[in-house]
Amino acid sequence: METKKPSESETYVERMVLPEDMDIYEYLYGGRLVEWIDNCASIVATKHCRKRTVTGSIDSLFFLLPIHLGDMVILHGYINYTTKSTMEIEIDVIKEEGLTGIRRYATKAYLTYVAIDSDGRPTEIPQIAPETEEEKKRFQDAEKRAEERRKRLETIKQQLANMIP
Ligand SMILES: CC(C)(COP(=O)(O)OP(=O)(O)OC[C@H]1O[C@@H](n2cnc3c(N)ncnc32)[C@H](O)[C@@H]1OP(=O)(O)O)[C@@H](O)C(=O)NCCC(=O)NCCS
Repeated sequence: METKKPSESETYVERMVLPEDMDIYEYLYGGRLVEWIDNCASIVATKHCRKRTVTGSIDSLFFLLPIHLGDMVILHGYINYTTKSTMEIEIDVIKEEGLTGIRRYATKAYLTYVAIDSDGRPTEIPQIAPETEEEKKRFQDAEKRAEERRKRLETIKQQLANMIP
């Protein structure tokens, strides 16, 4: 079984907040930040498995700070955990004030990516081999989240299967 280190897919993306990223109240539009988070996670997933991937889930997101025009947004992407065909990717989002350089965490996201073959079916990926204490802790914590997520996925699948749109 092929294994890879999390450091091989670790990714930093930086964005400057521009006028087209703002909502009508002059805050960074939440949907734009979600797009940047998903894009950064997609880079991590692709670097890790070098296969087609799709976003399976995004865990709940809490936006902690307003982000304004001219601020920088730094997205740090890291793979915490793998199963046969899925990856848990963590994105830490840091706001850096353009004019002062002051940095604070704005949010943290956990996404699940699923690797797919040319028919869109889940396919096997390299597993991560946690080595450092931090990597092992990330892996164990992610394993617990994955278990909870699997239960929620089953519940929502059952609920929606019984509903007529
Ligand atoms: C993700 C997708 C490929 C999974 O296909 P599937 O036939 O349901 O997959 P399976 O039931 O065989 O599950 C394979 C693995 O993926 C996980 N998985 C499946 N759907 C998932 C989801 N939505 N979120 C997180 N994990 C998911 C399963 O838990 C399983 O994990 P395991 O290997 O740890 O047991 C399919 O549901 C899909 O294409 N979804 C749309 C993805 C998409 O278009 N995303 C962009 C936004 S619309």
